[in-house]
Amino acid sequence: MVEFRLPKDSRIEKGKVHKSKEPAKNPKLVHIYRYDPDSNANPRVDTYEIDLAKCGPMVLDILIKVKDEIDSTLTFRRSCREGVCGSCAMNIDGTNTLACLKHIDDCGKEIKIYPLPHMPVMKDLVPDLTLAYAQHASTQPWLKSQTPPSPTQERLQSKEDRAKLDGLWECILCYCCTTSCPSYWWNGDRYLGPASLLQSYRWIADSRDEATGERLDELNDSFKLYRCHTIMNCTKTCPKGLNPAKAIGEIKKKIVEREF
Ligand code: SF4
Ligand code: SF4
Ligand code: FES
Repeated sequence: MVEFRLPKDSRIEKGKVHKSKEPAKNPKLVHIYRYDPDSNANPRVDTYEIDLAKCGPMVLDILIKVKDEIDSTLTFRRSCREGVCGSCAMNIDGTNTLACLKHIDDCGKEIKIYPLPHMPVMKDLVPDLTLAYAQHASTQPWLKSQTPPSPTQERLQSKEDRAKLDGLWECILCYCCTTSCPSYWWNGDRYLGPASLLQSYRWIADSRDEATGERLDELNDSFKLYRCHTIMNCTKTCPKGLNPAKAIGEIKKKIVEREF
């Protein structure tokens, strides 16, 4: 997994320290980024002493414990609790990952939890993904076909063609990759980023889709696609083990093959 330092932000202040109310059998210090846009206060990092003897095994269990037992104002997203919905993506110990899949034993001596980097923060650990979702929507991520569907059966695909979608359909749009990408940090307003590009390639690679040329024309742009400089942070950080950098390379290859 890629390790990258978060930018030093002098506005982040040291926050409150919440000691365990009872003597902890297996104490662990957890530092959590807190920001409330309604308070007019600067962001701060609060510290919580968690008794791991009374906590589930994952980082998400720590967050749920803090919210349930210590501070109900702590805000974070989660839903499935098994790495499927993508909503609990955050930066844990300097790496973008899913809190529900991150085992506490794999964390540092003291755990540092921040929101996904380089995105506006709505509250605490919740990033504003409005732009990223709009970029995803701009790739028209659905099957496009002029051929009317058969009234008696679904659109069929050979096993070989179906296999071409492996490594693509598993993407849960958590945006761990996009928010680890330096090109996206600096040009996120115009570069689509690895998540949207991998999702776009998922349809380009689909034998049933008939809009490949249109899709490639749309992506053939110095910012939308070619801001990717193959830095590979995206692939290193993907908690589902996918390879967005490879998908981006495949899109570039298809554009070249089409031109010659
Ligand atoms: S490619 Fe991986 S890191 Fe990127 S959005 Fe999909 S699942 Fe998340
Ligand atoms: S390979 Fe491309 S998309 Fe992935 S981190 Fe590097 S620049 Fe970003
Ligand atoms: S809660 Fe769904 S991926 Fe973590």
